[in-house]
Formats: sequence, structure tokens, C-alpha cells
Amino acid sequence: MLPNVLQPSATDHVPVLADAVRELIAIEPGETVIDATFGAGGHAALLAADLRGSGKLIAIDRDQTTREYFDRFARRAGVATRFLRGDFAVVLRQLADNGVQADAILFDLGVSSMQIDRPERGFSYAADAPLDMRMDTSAEVTAAGIVNEADERDLATIFKRYGEERYARQIARTIVRRRKEQRFERTGDLVETIRAAIPAPARFGDGHPAKRVFQALRIAVNDELGSLEIALPAAFSILHPGGRLAVISFHSLEDRAVKRFMRDLERGCDCPPDFPVCVCGRKPELRTLSRKPVRPTPAELTVNPRAASARLRVAVKT
Ligand SMILES: C[S@@+](CC[C@H](N)C(=O)[O-])C[C@H]1O[C@@H](n2cnc3c(N)ncnc32)[C@H](O)[C@@H]1O
Repeated sequence: MLPNVLQPSATDHVPVLADAVRELIAIEPGETVIDATFGAGGHAALLAADLRGSGKLIAIDRDQTTREYFDRFARRAGVATRFLRGDFAVVLRQLADNGVQADAILFDLGVSSMQIDRPERGFSYAADAPLDMRMDTSAEVTAAGIVNEADERDLATIFKRYGEERYARQIARTIVRRRKEQRFERTGDLVETIRAAIPAPARFGDGHPAKRVFQALRIAVNDELGSLEIALPAAFSILHPGGRLAVISFHSLEDRAVKRFMRDLERGCDCPPDFPVCVCGRKPELRTLSRKPVRPTPAELTVNPRAASARLRVAVKT
């Protein structure tokens, strides 16, 4: 177990799987660390503490409001810091193009507690607010845009694929019928429409009836899987040999993308299985540190129930 250097971070936000992240990333003084999803800086504060006064922490986030958390973090970090606002897919590629190299890169995917807890951002089905859900508030696509403009089949596909919503088709049909009379502007209107679209018994089991549609819309609005697909190879290309890549994901689609990415690089050879010898010559480029993803302990879940679906995968570049 590492010494507890859990300092008060920029907020009282509790970083997910913090002990496991620190233990597996194992930061050494003098290293360059990239926190690709800075949020409120909870993980960044721990990783900066592990640099013990020497090294550099580069923070990335696409949400404008995280700048304020970063400024507070930077004043206390005790190491060189830099904030780059933007989509990690774009920023990591720019860093790679500029020859930046790093020893450890962390992704803690999805939305932050701060984003969910600010009703005006529109991420929460629990409060009536503008139907927005953009992490980057200068981005063009909003949840209202998708709900009002996408055709019925695309809506159903989004709800099914990104939310695994059982009643995706019924909900899409009810949305399209309702928006002919009135555009959707508020989260509350959408919640009511989802409730009306699903059979009565399903409104009460398996969490809030709008949970899966809200998750699906959020993923679509922010093109979360598209960014991840681009960011993983960009992050890997930045790492020095021996560099660590850590990814915390919160739903199976993300975790599958991370697992596939790591497995392909770990396997190296991609010759068809019936070839007697390898002709492609590809060698393993990374080593995963645990076959199964690391999950939160029951103790962590009592303190932070939002960590319930978190899964951490860590790999070392060989
Ligand atoms: C779960 S929070 C991270 C919390 C952070 N680890 C902490 O301890 O405070 C995820 C953060 O990543 C950001 N984010 C998500 N996808 C992003 C992307 N494609 N590019 C940049 N930032 C992203 C969100 O805006 C959010 O602030």
C-alpha cells in the first residue's frame, strides 16, 4: 500500500480507484504525467504528489469550467504544470506532432460529478434544465439538437447502442410524435416523454426510467467513443518505453474499446491463426498489468457509490 498523500484537492471530489491508479501507474520523481481528463483535479493532485517536487503534470479537459480547478491545483502542485483545454483526441495528437513524450497517461472517462451536479448543464434527469449535455459548451451539437433533428431510426440506434435501452424503438417513436407538436427544450420534457413511452412496470424497476437514454444522448452529444478511438493510439505514441497507460471506464462500450486496443498491441503478431509461422513480424508493444479490469472495493463504494461501474485497465509500453 502506498503512503497516504491524499491531499485536499481543488474540491472535495473523491477520485475513483485512486489507490489502484497510484499503485499501478507508480509515478517516479522527474517523470512527465498527462492527466487527459482533469475534471476537478482529484487524480492529478495525487499523481503530482507522487512526483515529489520534480517532474511535470500536463492536464487536459474539454470543459471550460475545469480551468478554475486547474488554477487552484497548479498553485499547490509543487511541480511544473500545464493546462490544455480541448478534446483529448485532438490535444494528444497535437502533443505527439510536437514531439512531446510522457511517462504516464491517465484517462478517467465520462462526465464528472461537477458536471452532473450542475443542473444547468443538462446532464441530469433529476432536475429540469436546458437539454444541453455538452462537456465543451462551445461545441455545436447539443442533446436538444439530436432529440429534435435526428430521424427516428437514428434515435433508436443511439438509445440502443449507447444506452442498451430495451424500449429504444418505442421511445424514439414517442419522441418523434411529440416533437411534431412542440420542440424539446428541457430535460423535464424528455423525462416525461420517456416515462410515457415505456410500459408501466418498466417505469419502476432498474433505476430511473430515463437513465439509459440520458447516458446514450450524452455519449452521442460528446462523441465519447469516437474521441476515445482516436485518443488511445495517440496517447500510446507519446509514451516512452516503460510508460504506463491507465484508463478508467464506466460502461461496457468504453471498456471493450480499451480492452481491444490493449489486447491487439499486447498480442503483436496478427497473422491468421492457421499460419504455421509468423510472417507479419509484429512484436508485442505493451504488457497489460492485470488480465481483468480493477474494480472498486466495497469500502470505496460506501464512500463513493458513483464508482460502482468503474473499471481500470493499465498497460506498460514495452
Ligand atoms: C470523470 S471526470 C474526471 C475526474 C478527474 N479524474 C478528477 O479526479 O477530478 C471526466 C472529465 O473528463 C473530461 N472529458 C471527457 N471526455 C473528454 C474528451 N474527449 N476530451 C477532453 N476531456 C474530456 C470531462 O469534461 C470531465 O471533466
